[in-house]
Amino acid sequence: MSNMVIFTFVEASIQPLSAIKCNIRCPLCSLHSAPPHLLSLSLSLSLSLSKMRGATRTLWPAAIGLVLLLALLPSAQCGVTYDRKAIVINGERRILISGSIHYPRSTPDMWEGLVQKARDGGLDVIQTYVFWNGHEPSPGEYTFEGRYDLVRFVRTVQRAGLYVHLRIGPYICGEWNFGGFPVWLKYVPGISFRTDNEPFKRAMQGFTQKIVEMMKTESLFESQGGPIILSQIENEYGPEAKAFGPAGQAYVNWAAKMAVGFDTGVPWVMCKEDDAPDPVINACNGFYCDAFRPNRPYKPMMWTEAWSGWFTEFGGTVHQRPVEDLAFAVARFIQKGGSFINYYMYHGGTNFGRTAGGPFITTSYDYDAPVDEFGFIREPKHGHLKELHRAIKLCEKALVSSDPTVLSLGTYQQAHVFNSQSGGCAAFLANYNPNSYARVLFNNMHYNLPPWSISILPDCRNVVFNTAKVGVQTSQMQMLASSNEQLTWERYDEEIVSLADNSLLTATGLLEQINVTRDASDYLWYIASVDVNPDERFLRGGQPPVLIVQSAGHALHVFVNGQLSGSAYGSRENRRISYNSNIILRAGSNKIALLSVAVGLPNVGTHYELWNTGVLGPVVLHGFDEGKRDLTWQQWSYQVGLRGESMNLNSLEGVSTVEWMQGDFAGQAQQPLTWFKAYFDAPGGDEPLALDMRSMGKGQVWVNGQSIGRYWTVYANGDCEGCSYTGTYKSTKCQIGCGEPTQRWYHVPRSWLQPTGNLLVVFEELGGDAAKISLVKRSVSSICADVSEWHPTIKNWHIDSYGQPEEIHRPKVHLHCAPGQSISAIKFASFGTPLGTCGSFQRGACHSLNSHIPLEKKCIGQQRCAVTISPTNFGGDPCPNILKRMAVEAVCSPAVQPVH
Ligand code: GAL
Repeated sequence: MSNMVIFTFVEASIQPLSAIKCNIRCPLCSLHSAPPHLLSLSLSLSLSLSKMRGATRTLWPAAIGLVLLLALLPSAQCGVTYDRKAIVINGERRILISGSIHYPRSTPDMWEGLVQKARDGGLDVIQTYVFWNGHEPSPGEYTFEGRYDLVRFVRTVQRAGLYVHLRIGPYICGEWNFGGFPVWLKYVPGISFRTDNEPFKRAMQGFTQKIVEMMKTESLFESQGGPIILSQIENEYGPEAKAFGPAGQAYVNWAAKMAVGFDTGVPWVMCKEDDAPDPVINACNGFYCDAFRPNRPYKPMMWTEAWSGWFTEFGGTVHQRPVEDLAFAVARFIQKGGSFINYYMYHGGTNFGRTAGGPFITTSYDYDAPVDEFGFIREPKHGHLKELHRAIKLCEKALVSSDPTVLSLGTYQQAHVFNSQSGGCAAFLANYNPNSYARVLFNNMHYNLPPWSISILPDCRNVVFNTAKVGVQTSQMQMLASSNEQLTWERYDEEIVSLADNSLLTATGLLEQINVTRDASDYLWYIASVDVNPDERFLRGGQPPVLIVQSAGHALHVFVNGQLSGSAYGSRENRRISYNSNIILRAGSNKIALLSVAVGLPNVGTHYELWNTGVLGPVVLHGFDEGKRDLTWQQWSYQVGLRGESMNLNSLEGVSTVEWMQGDFAGQAQQPLTWFKAYFDAPGGDEPLALDMRSMGKGQVWVNGQSIGRYWTVYANGDCEGCSYTGTYKSTKCQIGCGEPTQRWYHVPRSWLQPTGNLLVVFEELGGDAAKISLVKRSVSSICADVSEWHPTIKNWHIDSYGQPEEIHRPKVHLHCAPGQSISAIKFASFGTPLGTCGSFQRGACHSLNSHIPLEKKCIGQQRCAVTISPTNFGGDPCPNILKRMAVEAVCSPAVQPVH
């Protein structure tokens, strides 16, 4: 008990929250941080008062008084706390829907739009990690600018009327370089990461304190009237704690005590840490969390990472998670009493620069999130979840007021029923069977439940949402050439240093890469000289010698006497490289230059600070007359980074310090270690931009000195055989892109461009055809809807053959284009049994020849339209007694301005 923090909890009763112990410092907080619906409530109260004719003059002072009174209400209405049902904000238990948006994974000019899309999707909270290595690149030197302007990000969320969950970590995992730790931390004397180690704890406390104080100074905690309602300390420490034993336990207790000691006035969370000490709330991360329970009966059930998709690694496929399954997982969590759910990620974004960690994580961190990497709403994910959130919010009162009563409705079917104090009732009807529909009887009504789905009934009677019934449209994205003009390229060949260069570091034997580079560059040259006797047999027609290089990772290019001899790569699963190939040596002195390339440092694993990178050997030459020649312990020379990097060729200032070659390089496409530069004008319009790097090999790219990230045209290996939303999801289940480059398009933020003369620099390791690099615009190519005759959102009743009331439905196809656009064509329409998916629909065996008529009539020229799916609308039933669907693909184009 000695290191337990004493904390008074809200009564664990499920009665009105009269006994809530609130923070006393913020008499005005309930107004400052009131969520948008409360503000609009007080606004509409004022408006309706003002509309009352005659009463206006007398009622206005009363209304103002009321608002003032609310503002000055006893502090018992203020602050954030929790009880066993929920997070309690200003005295109110809340069901909170949250989404992760990581501020450095987009640009500040994108933040407002992203947060707005989150708000529009029904979110209450934005969750972000804090990125220590971004903020403190060298000890004591802090950056809080540009993409790292944390305060600006939090304020952006606040302005949108949303809350913030600040996951300070400072260990964050997150597929971020070194899990968020600055590389210098590894070199603090005596340090050992994430355990009961004084140097580590001192550094961790220092950074946590820095962030907490900054937030306090800016009054950003909810207890001060700000938007931050929750903070996280550490990240998924549970699995580590087990490995560390008692030292791990001591560290968890220390971390919790340290965090709580900052007295932020809002609760702290530890995710995936079953032993989170009071009052820290332990939370769940995963694809499903309905089996999770907090470690104390007085803590709420929180899900800090509901994985909306998955990250991508170079050489792997792209992972998708069907929204039907994600919605099912969320509904399962809520019906079990969960009250906080965060989508990881809501917007994944981009790993600009060298921020990706893992290693081998791609520059894109799209994550199949509801808002895509470029900031577009991803449909149907965004829209379907929005409907889910609306349905959950309709149940909020009942959900926070009671524990569910669970009724069995069949072998694989259950009802979870919640009753509120005021007599309200909400029910979740679940069918866990992954293979078949179920017809269940609940409250004397029959309901059809699709496989692997949950229907939500906010009044215990009417279904407003079913997780498997996607009624919202799908959108198809396209990458369109932004101009017909090819870029004019110039090149500069990176030189391989001469061993005579006395700026080189030399050592006997092989050095670990990060110890030498301190991660200032991805690149480290290992150079050795090999003398060959002119009498060697291999020089006179014998078998050429074989070079064997063992490297701890991540990529390796072997140059012999200035020529690329070969390359080898590790993978995320196995970073180690074993290079084994013939090489050509000449009589006399030969230069073997090994370019070892890091592809992001590890971000997770017990004591990952001790993991090695680079050529650690052995390095051996076989095939000499004497047998093998071991180079491992001879003299090696080292150069950190590329010559071009030290000359800042990627920057606006450095680019003109060398002579670039002009001309047509088509014939020299396979020239390794080449710098390319070109200038381009910003394409018109405001669509997001990307570089198509398909023609290139591997390297990095910069625009106006800003790093777009690492690129690598490596082809995806995986299993792309189909994807069903039913059954337990895992990241290997719904892969796409087999045989395609893992990543082809690299996001170029608009805000990094000037109208004309933008500098584009590419460093290519292997060789590629720069002439084929192009700048593309991302836009919506078409929108689709695919709606079954049966849909739960329409409520009609008839008496079925058992004499019971049963739902019947008249669903609608809804289409809408982005603001400023309207529907210009119906590309495909079929009422019947159409086949395929958005972009590749085809008619099935049953098809109404009139399918397109009502759509063309109601939709062309409109920004949005809705058409009821009923046989009468299509001139009759094309195939009676068969369940039909309506599939539509429509084109959105800029709306035509009326001519005056
Ligand atoms: C979690 C971790 C996140 C992220 C995620 C996978 O375990 O907490 O930071 O790494 O996995 O994307």
